[in-house]
Amino acid sequence: MSAISIGLLGFGTVGKGVYETISKHQGRLQAIFGREVKVSAILVKNVSKHSLPDGEVLLTDNFQEIIELPKLDVVIDAIVGREPGYTYLRQAISRGCHVITANKEMFAFHGRELARLAKHNNVSLGFEATVGGGIPIIQTIKQLLNANKIERIEGILNGTSNFILTSMREENLTFEEALKIAQEKGYAEADPKNDIEGYDAFYKAVVLSELVFGKSPSQETSVREGITGITIEQIRVAASLGLKFKHVASIQKEQETISCTVKPVLTGEAHPLYRVEGVQNAVSIDADIVGNISLQGPGAGMFPTASAIVEDLIHIGKADFPAVFEEGKSEETVLEQPVWVIL
Ligand code: HSE
Repeated sequence: MSAISIGLLGFGTVGKGVYETISKHQGRLQAIFGREVKVSAILVKNVSKHSLPDGEVLLTDNFQEIIELPKLDVVIDAIVGREPGYTYLRQAISRGCHVITANKEMFAFHGRELARLAKHNNVSLGFEATVGGGIPIIQTIKQLLNANKIERIEGILNGTSNFILTSMREENLTFEEALKIAQEKGYAEADPKNDIEGYDAFYKAVVLSELVFGKSPSQETSVREGITGITIEQIRVAASLGLKFKHVASIQKEQETISCTVKPVLTGEAHPLYRVEGVQNAVSIDADIVGNISLQGPGAGMFPTASAIVEDLIHIGKADFPAVFEEGKSEETVLEQPVWVIL
């Protein structure tokens, strides 16, 4: 029986984590899929900079070589930026591949269209890794939405910012020193401006808003502010008063308007995010039947993110295999309605 064939886009922190996790937990994956699960090809920027123990893996800087492989079942997107990720995933879906992405910026802008296209092509679209690192926030929300209406979500959605704020307060590090460590640990984005100026948390909030409310936050009522304006003196004064700065994202619906604020907030001991430290993310969800649900866990890093991606892969294996892997199941069908909530 032929292996499940995966094309992995990107071989940075996240891509390497996925590759290692698939290799290390091959037995677990084979038990679910009933066959070997193999990374067949990896898209890299510079082929000469990489080598792999498995000589059978195609290392290429040309996406077309991957998409034209005779057998390709799943494409995993671990690259950053709106493009070329969006174009690559469109091609992969149109070819009938399942796709999984960790690319929050691309998904915040194009997730709805990718979801529509995936539905048309009868393939799965996994995006657990776009929000909250290793916290299974997307699956939790989908499960809650089966019965509940979600009214509000509040949380810390960027691990790098929380790591910097914690390190400045607890370790007496400067902003630059703390950021450098976050980069060395693989928490920060390739361009850390995304983390420290609040863009990354805002993209994640957009993904949550689309999932929960079926639309993006309104520009008029939204705020995006990072942590670059917070000084060490402000952190010390706050600490002397028993307060901590937290970078908090809030998404809520008022009548038909979705508003989103991403900004630093001074929290006291009674605040639910006060004790969320380091690279941890936390999400607090207010839903109409269950009440409040809170989740906390590692919000960034190689293996937390790889865990979210491999969870999606296994979800596809459990939910869809083998039907969608059969030949001829990927012809386009027409679907008129938005598909976010039913994914
Ligand atoms: N740079 C991101 C963060 C990675 O620090 O949260 C996880 O999305």
